[in-house]
Amino acid sequence: MDTFHQIERMRNQVRRWQAAGEVVGFVPTMGNLHEGHLRLVRHARRVSDRVVVSVFVNPTQFGPGEDFDAYPRTLEADSEHLLAEGVDALFAPTVNEVYPRGLDHLVTVHVPGLSDILCGAHRPGHFTGVATVVCKLFGMVGPDLAVFGRKDYQQFQVIRRMVTDLNLPVEVIGSETAREQDGLALSSRNAYLEPAQRDTAPALYRELHRIATALRGGERDFLQLEADGWKHLTQAGLAPDYVSIRLRDNLAEPVPDLPASAFVVLAAAWLGRARLIDNIEVADL
Ligand code: PAJ
Repeated sequence: MDTFHQIERMRNQVRRWQAAGEVVGFVPTMGNLHEGHLRLVRHARRVSDRVVVSVFVNPTQFGPGEDFDAYPRTLEADSEHLLAEGVDALFAPTVNEVYPRGLDHLVTVHVPGLSDILCGAHRPGHFTGVATVVCKLFGMVGPDLAVFGRKDYQQFQVIRRMVTDLNLPVEVIGSETAREQDGLALSSRNAYLEPAQRDTAPALYRELHRIATALRGGERDFLQLEADGWKHLTQAGLAPDYVSIRLRDNLAEPVPDLPASAFVVLAAAWLGRARLIDNIEVADL
């Protein structure tokens, strides 16, 4: 596995592979890799000849007071994991390389509507930072396809929409959420949980599961389901930002006369220093 810190070299390598007729898959990450990331890598390997993984903690998607400085940076361990997975290239650019003219007056990619709801309403500017950096990374790497986790469902939809609207020549693939035995979705931020909080954390998945099961059983009082979800999470000791039932295709508000498979149930909740997010696509139940 080669490690590239410079855009030019990374892009040239990808072009060489593509010139030889190889399909290049890309998995963008912020590092501190866990099994969830590695599943995306394996997914990428199944559908491409070469796999590039980026590790870049992107400053523009963190708000003031968020955990940009505290975000775990573990490049050496990440590199070992990727090597063991048979990854072809690790792309680890510096902030300077990605943002050569600084963060002011940056051309940004804003995906209206999708960026401003749910997590976007609680993290202003977050999805613009994500869409901007992913667009830049696509330009730097030039992959044929890219794999994203459905765990960050809104992010996945924002990126899909960006690619469609900007006609970017990258196929976007969503890979299923990797969970602990007790249902907790794997996340770098789980490391912020104290042991007692770790015991509480699976309540988030359980509650999403309860709502998804009710939808599948025909329940369509969305507001009541969301309100009950909020109540149960609070009782379990979590502080929800939102509990929301949306249309799976575009995250629009739900309408009753649709089959359960049309819905996704999403939530974000604070537990100590960790902001947990998760979702269940009812079709997958
Ligand atoms: P990061 O949080 O490192 O996640 C990188 C990728 O791993 C994302 O596509 C995310 O959805 C996926 N992922 C994380 N936990 C997962 C899990 N438990 N199961 C399945 N997939 C999981 O998301 C980002 O980085 C950044 O916003 C990025 C897209 C790299 C832009 O900076």
